[in-house]
Amino acid sequence: MEILHVTAECYPVAKVGGLGDVAGALPKYQQKHGHEVKLIMPFYNTKYVSAHEWETDYTGRTNLGDYFFDFQILKEKNNTLGFALYLVEITGLLDRPNVYGYNDDPQRFIAFQICVAEWLRQWHHKPDVVHCHDYHTGLLPFIFKHCYDYNMLESIPTVLTIHNAEYQGWLSWDRSVWIPRYDVWKTGLLDWKNVINPLASGIKNAWAVTAVSPSYMEELRYNSNGLEDLFEYEKGKCTGILNGIDSDIWNAATDSFIQTNYSLTNISKGKQANKNYLCDTFGLDKEKPLFIFIGRLVGEKAADILPDAIRTILWETKEEANFLILGSGEATVEYRLEEIKHSNPKSYNFYRGYNESLSHQMYAGADFLLMPSRVEPCGLNQMYALRYGTMPLVRRTGGLKDTVIDIGDGGYGICFSQANIEDLKHACSRAIEIYHQKKNLLSYRKKMMSIDNSWDNTVNKYLQLYQRLA
Ligand code: ADP
Ligand code: GLC
Repeated sequence: MEILHVTAECYPVAKVGGLGDVAGALPKYQQKHGHEVKLIMPFYNTKYVSAHEWETDYTGRTNLGDYFFDFQILKEKNNTLGFALYLVEITGLLDRPNVYGYNDDPQRFIAFQICVAEWLRQWHHKPDVVHCHDYHTGLLPFIFKHCYDYNMLESIPTVLTIHNAEYQGWLSWDRSVWIPRYDVWKTGLLDWKNVINPLASGIKNAWAVTAVSPSYMEELRYNSNGLEDLFEYEKGKCTGILNGIDSDIWNAATDSFIQTNYSLTNISKGKQANKNYLCDTFGLDKEKPLFIFIGRLVGEKAADILPDAIRTILWETKEEANFLILGSGEATVEYRLEEIKHSNPKSYNFYRGYNESLSHQMYAGADFLLMPSRVEPCGLNQMYALRYGTMPLVRRTGGLKDTVIDIGDGGYGICFSQANIEDLKHACSRAIEIYHQKKNLLSYRKKMMSIDNSWDNTVNKYLQLYQRLA
């Protein structure tokens, strides 16, 4: 099949979180399974973009309301990612260092989608499916079906994958001029609760909708930032498909980001060597259990409970554990995490910011990973941790429920119910107990490292869905 992915992020071109990982891996595995896969994303000023060679595939001119602009579609010359990669270049609008965070993000992503439709309109044939990811590409199914200039794209099956329904891209109706001329009788297919809602529009107009885990798909009908009734109504075309991971990149035996490579045959030694390096770098104690948190410091991830939970655990256990945090986000959380460095310098550290190589080193060197998330559509961190023999401590929600089984139920992780200090404290004390039973710890690590969460296992679920639509 010929598959076209449309996305705002793709690792290693530009990544903010898990969307980037999925968009870098799923197309690669689909191509590996014999399909012809293309991916198109905005041209940002990132290292990857400047370090690779590009050729012009198409140039055009279009408009966003009364703003007319030229654009180019560039193709990566050497197919380095294992599939064909295309960028939409709009000078002044997309070519910036960051993916998100600009006041004109709505214009940027709508212009991006219009350019994708312009480009597709020129193709001599049509792809078998266009696979959109999150709200940044949620208007495309509507554009194909109801915008006059693009009605030749109407017959292309579209899939919208929801990685995170918290972000919906709301726009007031006075911005409707940015959407290419459309059949006004179809206005309701853009609207949700009196605003233009690109995610809701994607759910209404896509031929099929997926969420990144079965449990999250189920939860969306009860808790989806205002879209609950829509998910209930559209449930017939919605499915949950669990994400996989790129097991070539996330492989302790070959990972070039980590100090010491290891595998099932030398887990204890390998993990200890990586832990020693981390502890030396961050002034922590190599003998104590090492808990880590990696991620965006936001409410969804329950990052706000970390400062008090960590302080309490350190106080109550007389610093019997180490904590190392990597992330950035809400200023108050960052500030409170920064403060603990002064009170507990030997058992706590915090790296504020984004650091891909450090994240690998942390998955490899830690004993336990904390994920108290309030909302977790899938979560990749816990799957990376498992792959590196690091036990995840997770709240039972979304994809965490689908990927981590508690040791009490014959599994390999620690699960809890509430995103609060009490539950996190209790989970950590269970973890500390396991840490001191070295034999058990080793057998859990072996079990974790033997789990196969690679995309090889799930890639077919998307293909079956595409085939049903085709
Ligand atoms: P989300 O996409 O909601 O942030 P996921 O668990 O799906 O959560 O994926 C997060 C991805 O981003 C993982 O690859 C994780 O290692 C990475 N990540 C998150 N924060 C950081 C950071 N500060 N530095 C490096 N990598 C990070
Ligand atoms: C989103 C979700 C995360 C998921 C990722 C990849 O960012 O928050 O849970 O793993 O997308 O699908």
